[in-house]
Amino acid sequence: MQTFYWQLDDKKDNSAVIRQAAYFIRRGEVVAFPTETVYGLGADGLDAEAVKKIYAAKGRPADNPLILHIAACDEIKILAGELNANAKELAARFWPGPLTLVVPKSAAVPSIVSAGLSTVAVRCPSHPVARALIEAAGRPIAAPSANISGRPSPTTGKDVLEDMDGKIACVLDGGPCGIGLESTVVDTTGPLPCILRPGGITYEMLEEVLGAVEIDPALAGAESLRPKAPGMKYRHYAPQAPLYILEGEAGEKLPQMIAHALKANLRVGVLTDERGAAKVKKLFGANSALILKSFGENKKELAAGLFYFLRDFDRQGPDVILATGVDEKGLGLAIMNRMRKAAGQQSLVLRDGRLLLRNGAALPPWLSLE
Ligand code: TXA
Ligand code: MG
Repeated sequence: MQTFYWQLDDKKDNSAVIRQAAYFIRRGEVVAFPTETVYGLGADGLDAEAVKKIYAAKGRPADNPLILHIAACDEIKILAGELNANAKELAARFWPGPLTLVVPKSAAVPSIVSAGLSTVAVRCPSHPVARALIEAAGRPIAAPSANISGRPSPTTGKDVLEDMDGKIACVLDGGPCGIGLESTVVDTTGPLPCILRPGGITYEMLEEVLGAVEIDPALAGAESLRPKAPGMKYRHYAPQAPLYILEGEAGEKLPQMIAHALKANLRVGVLTDERGAAKVKKLFGANSALILKSFGENKKELAAGLFYFLRDFDRQGPDVILATGVDEKGLGLAIMNRMRKAAGQQSLVLRDGRLLLRNGAALPPWLSLE
């Protein structure tokens, strides 16, 4: 299949191109489009045959349900059964925006969208292109992130093309996504709303509105627990090279770890903040075995760039990647959730001055600093 690639220009009128993409959606084809979080892979959310094509293009397991995207908040009425007070409050406060609500599903939603569950995930995005596309299509758009299953979510049009060229009808390139991490998923069906996936709407923001909110205990990494969002159980966001996250004070050992990797003749990728990157540059200078990336100064910049950097490492092919983590306040909860998943839970921590893997596994030989 030929995949059309259309670059949008926010200074010009893009309506003709968006109309064409909406026409593809109405014809049952799959279209990639930008949202404020990550790029989505969209199809007519009320057409089971069209939705099947999304699963095929991504190679997505059939037990992982999709999010339905709407342009006007009250369109949720067609997709959901009765909404409780928490769901209404969250929609009123945070839509349009990076929040997905899990609500009881109505009969209008095909069971392939919800992977057979009695609930459905709904989100009203704020990105103007996403909103214009949904409006022009005239129906809810089912859309997961536009990556091949398991790869980091795409945050640029080119990243989408890398995974989807030849598999879908078109890519709408609306530039880089602002937030860079997928939406916060909140299950509103229980007595207390529960965060199934942390994202741009933070725990603190939800708590302020609701008073109390739970976090799915499986997110804390307990292997024995089954996450309530089916998608959270898969290895995800993973770059090809083994990735190690340096958490807390372990970050201070970054220069030693780089030195050990280089000594073991490994090409090492490094992702750290501006200050850390300057230090690494000063210590190691220009070294062809060192691929150094600075994410900037704060969590917002790290969130916006994280998936792009992970994909960029794949293009440059290091043998191992070291990335420094952040604390879990605010956006930090979502960042660390994605980083740990990308690393397959290989987090390095410092205990009594010794470097350990948090999951108790043995350190790789090159990393033993003794
Ligand atoms: O920001 C986003 O949410 C992006 C953009 C494109 O909107 N979409 C996205 O979709 O990240 P996806 O399919 O990659 O992730 C959806 C997550 C998965 O973890 C899935 O298991 C969960 O939401 N989910 C969907 N429906 C659910 C349901 N009924 N109950 C529990 N979890 C659900
Ligand atoms: Mg995804």
